[in-house]
Amino acid sequence: MSLLISSLPKPHSMYLSFAARTTLLVLIVALSACGGSDDDTPSSNPNLPDIPSNPTPEVDTNWLPAGGVATISSDISRPFLQIIPTLPTSSLGNISAGRELFITQWTPAGEGRVLFDGVGPIFNANACTQCHSSEGRQPTYAPNGEMRDAILFRLGNKQGIAHPYYGEQMQHQSIDSSVATEGKMLYDVITAVDSPLSTVSFSFIPTDSNQPLGDSAISGRISPQLVGMGMLNLIPNVDIIAAADADDVNEDSISGRVHWVIEGSQQQIGRFGWKAINSSLRIQNANAMSQDMGLTTSVFAEPNCTVSQFICKTLPNGGFAGGPEVIDESLDAVTEFMTALAVPERRIGNLQTFNQGATLFAQTGCAGCHTPKQKTGDSLRFPLLSQQTIYPYTDLLLHDMGTGLDDGVKEKNAESYEWRTPPLWGIGIVARDPEARFLHDGRASSLTEAILWHGGEAESTKNRFEQLPDDEKQILLTFLNGI
Ligand code: HEC
Ligand code: HEC
Repeated sequence: MSLLISSLPKPHSMYLSFAARTTLLVLIVALSACGGSDDDTPSSNPNLPDIPSNPTPEVDTNWLPAGGVATISSDISRPFLQIIPTLPTSSLGNISAGRELFITQWTPAGEGRVLFDGVGPIFNANACTQCHSSEGRQPTYAPNGEMRDAILFRLGNKQGIAHPYYGEQMQHQSIDSSVATEGKMLYDVITAVDSPLSTVSFSFIPTDSNQPLGDSAISGRISPQLVGMGMLNLIPNVDIIAAADADDVNEDSISGRVHWVIEGSQQQIGRFGWKAINSSLRIQNANAMSQDMGLTTSVFAEPNCTVSQFICKTLPNGGFAGGPEVIDESLDAVTEFMTALAVPERRIGNLQTFNQGATLFAQTGCAGCHTPKQKTGDSLRFPLLSQQTIYPYTDLLLHDMGTGLDDGVKEKNAESYEWRTPPLWGIGIVARDPEARFLHDGRASSLTEAILWHGGEAESTKNRFEQLPDDEKQILLTFLNGI
């Protein structure tokens, strides 16, 4: 089965002569100036070839601050959702407004809080902070068997078709009894006979029993900690494209590919979310407002109900004077806050052990996807963030992660078995919480379990990790906890 999946043709596979590649390489470089900026300008052509990725990554132990100028002390009780302290005070106005909009509990339309109402009719949570916490990840699976609000569920299939009634995401809350919630999810922890790993499976209980799930698959998505979002937004397109290797030309069995998505009439590089479906922070935030909170914006002007959800669809939109519920100024302020998010500094106990861990991280192949070092492009909004060396441990590319992690849901052009390499900076702070969960649906209860779930392109890396002597495994984990 695993073989079958990995032998499927890659949608962006192209076979080009060397000359054609060279011509296109020039093209990419020429176009690259538009990508990875914070002004959401359109990026380059979708039909570009893949360029061989770097050879075995060099291990550079000449550590600069983890997030460049965006680095903050990690020695605080709430290390996430902190604002970069070095930004000029003149920029704080919008950022603080954005922070306010991020933490506020939105109310249903018509309750008189013009700036903060419009949530629903159906939604998952009424505040961004219900899912994104300043401490790390919100608990997902409570010990008493309850599932918490900070996990959401995508519904769809391998062809990329959303559920005809529920749409692409299940909303389990509604503003009041006049609008039915879509249903609720139950989970089960399953222990496989032939594997040391347990996993979670979900079952859907529809509120309206006439609207079954049918053959739609359910994909659980835990809410990631938000670290250095603005810095990730600034990684130039050309660097993401240059690291892609869809045909595995360099034969390292890792073949990341760019997630090209269509936005309006433009092709863009998807960067955010577990499957990199959103190309910029602004679109990611508007998407969260729409799908997670039922808030309309100028980006997603239609309510998050499908045409079949008649009551939900016909309730008045709470927008002021017929406009969206969240005005552009608010969406932009939230985006400024997200752009201004700091990166916690490294936690290095013993530098020699940390450096050894960095070497093991590269040697086992982790760095083939979790790219240690990136450089930001130029920021028009906050020039201070330009040309910073950062250590996010991601290539922002999609990888075939094998059948074990196949969720059965294709999103945009990301196949059901493809996932974006998640950034790993700050993951050790998340892991301090014994309830923290890892991987897209939170099936892994520790960093080691997360590694052991890696398959597909990461199969040989996973095997190399498993074969490490215990003390070296520990050194690698110590490094992971410190980055
Ligand atoms: C119900 C929980 C929930 C709420 C509410 C929520 N989010 Fe999220 N957020 C998520 C999940 C889950 C993901 C990953 C989604 C995916 O990939 O499917 C995510 C992803 C993100 C990302 C991208 C992170 C990355 O590493 O790529 C950003 C930025 C973000 N959310 C911002 C926001 C903002 C701003 C709000 C409020 C307007 C918000 N979120 C509200 C759950 C939530
Ligand atoms: C082929 C690319 C690839 C390689 C090689 C790889 N990873 Fe990953 N890693 C991913 C992707 C993609 C995910 C997300 C998968 C998912 O959520 O289903 C991930 C998830 C993780 C997570 C969980 C992150 C989170 O936010 O919950 C950790 C920890 C991790 N990887 C560490 C490692 C380590 C350590 C190695 C080397 C032993 C490694 N990875 C090798 C691509 C890779």
